[in-house]
Amino acid sequence: MKHLLAVAIIFTASLATAAPPRLQKHGATQQLVVDGEPFLVLGGELGNSSASSAGYMKPHWPRLKAMHLNTVLAPVYWELIEPSQGEFDWSTLDATLRDARASDLKLVLLWFGAWKNSMSTYAPAWVKRDSVRYPRVKLADGSSVEILSALSKNTVDADARAYAELLAHLAQVDARDQTVLMIQVENEIGMLPIAREHGAVADKAYAAAVPAELVKLLAARGAKVEPELRERWQKNGSKSSGSWAKVFGEDEWGQEVFTAWHYARFVESLAKAGKARYDIPMYANVALNRTGRKPGEYPSGGPLPHLIDVWKAGAPSLDFLAPDIYFPNFSQLAARYRLKDEGRAANVLFIPEANNATNPQVPANAFYAFGALDSLGFSPFSIESLGDVPNPLSQTYEILEQLTPLLLESRGRDRMAGFRATLNEDGSVVDTPMKVTLGGIEFTVAFIDPWTPKEQQTIANHGGLLIHSGEDFWFAGQGITITFNGAEPGGPMVGIELAEEGVFDAQGAWVPGRRLNGDQTHQGRHVRLAPGKPQIQRVRFYWYR
Ligand code: DGJ
Repeated sequence: MKHLLAVAIIFTASLATAAPPRLQKHGATQQLVVDGEPFLVLGGELGNSSASSAGYMKPHWPRLKAMHLNTVLAPVYWELIEPSQGEFDWSTLDATLRDARASDLKLVLLWFGAWKNSMSTYAPAWVKRDSVRYPRVKLADGSSVEILSALSKNTVDADARAYAELLAHLAQVDARDQTVLMIQVENEIGMLPIAREHGAVADKAYAAAVPAELVKLLAARGAKVEPELRERWQKNGSKSSGSWAKVFGEDEWGQEVFTAWHYARFVESLAKAGKARYDIPMYANVALNRTGRKPGEYPSGGPLPHLIDVWKAGAPSLDFLAPDIYFPNFSQLAARYRLKDEGRAANVLFIPEANNATNPQVPANAFYAFGALDSLGFSPFSIESLGDVPNPLSQTYEILEQLTPLLLESRGRDRMAGFRATLNEDGSVVDTPMKVTLGGIEFTVAFIDPWTPKEQQTIANHGGLLIHSGEDFWFAGQGITITFNGAEPGGPMVGIELAEEGVFDAQGAWVPGRRLNGDQTHQGRHVRLAPGKPQIQRVRFYWYR
């Protein structure tokens, strides 16, 4: 009897589902926990239309797996799941779930709801065709644009209902497998070609008082408010109440704050309704703005760097805000989304669109995002358009896959560094070496390879990372040459005890390849990861006087 009871308990336990995917504090950052285990997203985002056809996707799944991806970012289309109001069709989504599982891949779903790149093209026909119930944005001259108004209760209710149904469906079909890790709410929400909508409803809302919770938050966060918003608020008298124009200024930058608040509130309604059905991490992504462009010349009001505080106040149910980075100044842009504050003001980095997958700078950006900025994940766009395996991304992910246990352990613990040549927004390259101190050693990382003719090098593609674990220093990447010295002036000096290349096998054991203590380390003077193909080197240093 006792025996039977024990069997029954074990059986019941194995049927029980683990807590849904969630974010959990880990050192100074957060870890994505899936099925009770930490998870690092080596991802790729599908082109917009690919997930709408299982047949189209069929040949791509095995290629994505062969590229060492562990996660695919795939859209869920409002128009396909709710073709008639209140009638839901899960067939496209269920096929994506089935095929991802069959390829042993996880998913991050992208809710293409009321907004897709500022426009409203994925709203179902019953929304598109009824502009009385679901009004469009009005320009100052009273004409409409093909963008749904965020100020319509009908629209928010309809979108939130569909989104909540989606989460309820996932709770039913995916809570056990946990194929879906997270959900992006809308896609690159933003206003074009203006900074705020007009018309009777919008003008009234714009003349109303700024919500107290927003100004309270600005006052409480003080110097920690992102500099552009802080300066704007201060320039207008740091007011604790008043209309949007009074508190943030009448110009398009002030108007954009109003837009950001209402977008954040809209997204909050979805996130809150969705989490009530199935509580998994949710985020909003953003199309970044070019320096010198005004709101409306770029999609305004999204979770842009200068509006992070507005979004944090307006959409507290979101777990983080995520940049889509297509501009060359990757490291500066990504850094704005890694905020180490405590609680709601913190923001863990995740990059849902990290350039087009074919961009040759992608590998260096991936190493940098994980090594320097504790990214939860990395995901180039149009992943299925990448050519045959191996390719630069698959080689990079193969390395990152091997390093995943070390990366997961080291995130948020000041044991890692990432390197890449700095690029300006115009693409010009700053080839100055980077300096970083880890484990008492100051490392100088150069991006110009000493043994390759300069005209054969593309410094913008060079980058890597370093993990300090116990006695070992693990270098990964390509096109970087690292010199080292004791960080303490006048203190002991540092030499290479051993340097070796190698791989981690499927069980996670290090399998050394060549020992590199001669020419390959310039007789102990540097560590070099040659340009061309990323690799891992294990280096052990020693101290001498
Ligand atoms: C960013 C969007 O988020 C994607 O859906 C796609 O439209 C790409 N731009 C195209 O570059």
